[in-house]
Formats: sequence, structure tokens, C-alpha cells
Amino acid sequence: MSGIDDGQISNRSGNEDIHEVIEKRLSRRSFLGGAAATVAAASLGNITSLLAAVPDAADHVRKSTLLGFHGIPVSTADALIVPKGYSARVLIAWGDPVSNGPSFKPDASNTADEQAQQWGMHNDGFVYFPINGSVRGLIVQNNEYTDDVLLFPDGVANWNVAKTFKSQNAHGVSIIEVRKQGKGPAGRGGLWQVIRPSKYARRITGRTPINIGGPVAGDPRMKTSADTSGTMALGTINNCAMGLTPWGTYLTCEENFNGYFRKSAERSPMEVRYGISSNAHYLWYTTDTRFDADIEPNEANRFGWIVEIDPFDPGSTPVKRTALGRFKHEGAKVQEARDGRVVVYSGDDEQFEYIFKYVSRLPWRQARRQGINPLDDGTLYVAKFHSTGKGEWLPLTPDNEALSGWTLSDVLINTRAAADLAGATAMDRPEWIDTFPGSLTAIATLTNNTSRGTEGTNPRTGRSNPGVDAANPRARNAHGQLIRWNYAKDWTENTFRWDLFSLAGDMAAAAADGSNIDGDIYSSPDGIYVAPSGRLWIQTDVSGSSINPEKRSATYAAFGNNQMLCADVKTKETKRFLVGPNTSEITGVFVTPDERTMFVGIQHPGESPIGSNDPSNPKRYSSWPEGKKGGRPRSALVVINKDDGGVIGS
Ligand code: FEO
Ligand code: CA
Ligand code: CA
Repeated sequence: MSGIDDGQISNRSGNEDIHEVIEKRLSRRSFLGGAAATVAAASLGNITSLLAAVPDAADHVRKSTLLGFHGIPVSTADALIVPKGYSARVLIAWGDPVSNGPSFKPDASNTADEQAQQWGMHNDGFVYFPINGSVRGLIVQNNEYTDDVLLFPDGVANWNVAKTFKSQNAHGVSIIEVRKQGKGPAGRGGLWQVIRPSKYARRITGRTPINIGGPVAGDPRMKTSADTSGTMALGTINNCAMGLTPWGTYLTCEENFNGYFRKSAERSPMEVRYGISSNAHYLWYTTDTRFDADIEPNEANRFGWIVEIDPFDPGSTPVKRTALGRFKHEGAKVQEARDGRVVVYSGDDEQFEYIFKYVSRLPWRQARRQGINPLDDGTLYVAKFHSTGKGEWLPLTPDNEALSGWTLSDVLINTRAAADLAGATAMDRPEWIDTFPGSLTAIATLTNNTSRGTEGTNPRTGRSNPGVDAANPRARNAHGQLIRWNYAKDWTENTFRWDLFSLAGDMAAAAADGSNIDGDIYSSPDGIYVAPSGRLWIQTDVSGSSINPEKRSATYAAFGNNQMLCADVKTKETKRFLVGPNTSEITGVFVTPDERTMFVGIQHPGESPIGSNDPSNPKRYSSWPEGKKGGRPRSALVVINKDDGGVIGS
């Protein structure tokens, strides 16, 4: 990556952290004397009210030169909307063939075998891998989950083994080859198309053989009746966000794997900690005993990992990289350190879960020369955010005193419990993480968490709710925040400084909830992406049930449909660039190296209401992308160009 790379907390000498900013603002306010300021600074739950008292917007004149487009208003239309001067087109949608293969049948009657040759359902994070710069490449995209009501003509009725297989085949990862056809730059006559056939096109599904690599391979807890060696899993599921390694491979992250398993017998503490229960979200277990945890108790241990895929070798077997730990991985941001090692950031997306960092033992080039995968040999850490604005990475290793008696495999399989013991900071649902390489700064989204201030035991975790802290300052956090951290010398350091980039929400309610967005408002940030130019793209995921057109939640009414915004991290201004169709989530964004083409993922338009099994019902909410024709709503990958062929966002 090149360009501005400006995360804005790198300059230790000049930059203020949020606490300093608050103190300065307090000192300008005569009604808050020194004693009150000290109390306020010590009680970090009060950050909210302090920010509310002095919103950022009042403090500077708009000066961003990065955000050249006209921001668009919120929308509740069943349409994909981009700014004037831009065009957005569907490149591929659920059910389209990835190469030469069967076409999508609008009544959803494609078979399981056909689905295995088609773009999976509900696409999420992805990467564009250039083959020829900004005009031809591979797109590798996750297919996070299925809406089984929409996946079949009769929804989940009459469930059978063929339905399980089709649902599994609609999961995983889809690989396509794309190129810009025609003369002229993208947006000026050049049109992006999927190349069919392509030797690279491939589906990896919930049924594809995948090696288990790293320290946990062969551990007794990884063995099942179908794989007595504990080294070969079948499939990858709930693939949320992703990563890209410096050696050109793709990482796909298994997030909410627990929902596929059913355990009716008494649960182990680890099953409780990971949310495996009698309440399976899918019916797979009824026909596939792998997902019946009463019969195959170890199968669930083979999910919750980060999986490495070589998209340029279609015959290669993907590998679960167990040294990165097992939890509900949102994504995997790989950053090369100045000393040549790789650092991998990954959030565990659930209320009160953690942010992790992995550091390879060797510089990645040296490791690969020695035949060692850099993701198989390293140390996993978990983040502790101190109220002072400093933070530390706590090692999850057997020599950590807090983990006395634990083996490395214990830590890697039961990573959540290890992080509990180590004393990590429980966060407001960590989602995506990206980096500003030039300033040694990382940034993460914490999407929301309305349970933090609830007194008593959290029924999900079995633990007491921790209450607010400096990094998670809102007791009823409906809108989420972005948090940054940076290092003095290198990404591999064990200590850092941090601040809150923004507290999301509706500025009209800022006095009540502390929101401090300067510009266009958003709620529930999820996907984030730092483009080569330094533009920070922010995608939102207000839960589909909260923005259902028939019962839109008052809490989220001001935000309309889910959206994507662009922020200038120097000025902190935010502008809305895209709004999605009804009940969709915007997830996944990547630009070509010249930044003149942007690909964006639209996920779950017309999402089925929870508990419904009426396949016609979602169509009442959305028929995107078919539109007025009233077609079945389909997740899709969209390509965006500027009409004048310019840089996206300029
Ligand atoms: Fe798959 Fe946390 O979003
Ligand atoms: Ca997400
Ligand atoms: Ca989310």
C-alpha cells in the first residue's frame, strides 16, 4: 500500500489523545472546575457526557480534500444509491455461475450440485487480486451464511439431505476471474465482466476438504469418526471478513460457527463459552450427524478458525491455520511489520469479546524459505485497553502465569477462556480491523452492545456484565464506535496508545448518547477499509430486523437503510457515499490498485424475518437487484465507477 497512510495517532509528540482533548475542552469551560475535571477524567464512563458537551463539529472548519463527492441523504428506498457522477452495477449475484456452469433459476430450484458451481449466498468480505493491474484479476469472496427460506422454492419445509447439501454448498468462498472489457477507462466505456470460463474459478463450500494445520493438527480434540487423524476437516462455514497475506494468499474467517451445531445433552464449559446449544440455527444436524454435537462432540472444534486459500492454485487444498486461535473470527488483517514479521489482527464479534493480535516468530520471507508457513508459528496476544490511553497485548502462551497448567493447544482451541483468564478488555462486538501502514496505526469497528450496563449475569456468557470502561464508554451502546491504536516503532510491540476515533449515532441525540460524528451520521459500523489514498470507508450493519420496513425500530429510524460512508481521518469528516436496498447490509469493499474501480458487497436484501418460513415474504421487503420485476432478492457483488473515470471518492 502507498499513499497518505495517515491514521493520525502516530505522532506521539504532537497528537492529542482523546483524554487530552477532553481535558483541554474542560479547561475552556469555566463551569467545570479542576476538581470536576479530575473526577470526570477518572470516571471514564463520563467520556460520553463530556463528548456530548463539546461535540467535535463545533471545533473545526471543514477542510477535507479527500471527500470530493456530494454526500447522499439517508434512504429507505429499495434501491442501491450512489452519488451523482457515479454508477453502480451488479457484477455477480447469488446463483450465477462462477465459470461455465448452470444458470440461476429465479424460483430457487437449482440443485445442490448446481449450487456448488454457482456464486454462494450472502457474500461478505473479499479481496481483488490483480492479474493485470487494475484491468484484470481474481475476486475471492466469502459467502457468509444462507437464508434457507430464500434458498429453496418451499423454504425450510420438508427438510431433507438434499437441502442440507445445497445449504452447505451455498456457504464458503467463491472465486471468479474478472476483467474490464471495452475501450476507455472504467466508467468511460470500460465495463467489468466475469470471465467464463476461467481456470481460476472455484467454489469452496461447507463440504470441501480442508487441511488442519498448525499446532492443533492431530490433537485428540480435533478427531472425529470420519477423521481419526484430526488433520482433515470438511468445509468452512460462516465466512465473515477476510485477509490478504503478503505472499498472495487469501484468508477467510469462520465467525458464528456455533449456530450450525445442535447439542441437547449437557454442555461442556467450552461449549457454553462458544454458544453451542440445543438451539441450532440451521437444520443440517437433522440429516448430517457431523452437526449433531451429541453424536460428534469434536466436530465443532474444527470450526472457528482462519482458513488460508491460494486462489492462484485452483487445485490446492485450503488450510485451517490454528496458531491464530479459535473464536468467532470477524476478519484477519495482515500487516507486515518493519522487521519483516507478520502481525494478524482479528476481532471476536460477540458482546464482551476480545481483539487479538498474532505475531509470527520469524520474518515471513525467512519462514517461507525454511518451509514454515508464517501463520503456523507465532504468538497470539489479546488486547487490554487501559483507561490511561495506553494499552498492552497480553500473551496467550503457557508461560503466562494466568494460564498456568494450560498447553498451547488448550489455548488455541479454547481461546476465549484463555483470554478471560489473561484479563483482556471485553469489547462492544469487535468487527473489522484495518491499518494505516505509514503511521503504525490500526483502526477497528466495535459495532454496538446494548447489554453493557445491564446489571446481573449476562444469560449468554454466564458472566457478570462488566459495565462501561474507557474503550467501551456507553452503557446502552446502540450505535457503536471506532477505536484506534498505534505503536512507537513497530507493529510487533507489546504496548500501544489508543483513542476513540468516533462514537457513532444520531447527532440529534448526541446530548443523550455522546455521538460525535462530524458530517453524515451512521450507526453500527462493521466493515472498514483503508484505500491506498488513505480514504477510510465505513460500512454499516444495523440488524435487518431493526430496519425491516414493516416495523422499523425507532432507535435506528434516523439512519435509513444500511450504508457506506467515507471518512477523512485527518479532519474526521464523514460523508455518505452509498445506501443499500431494503434490509440489506453493506459488507465487503475493495478497490483496484489505481483506485478507479471499487467493488462493494450487498448482503441479505429482503432478509427473511426470524421465525418465518414464507418464501414469498422477503419479496415484500426487497426485490433487489431485479427491481420492479419482483424477483427473489439476491445478495450480490457490485462494481462502482466514477463517470469521468476518476478515483473513487475524489
Ligand atoms: Fe459476520 Fe460480525 O459480522
Ligand atoms: Ca461483519
Ligand atoms: Ca455485523
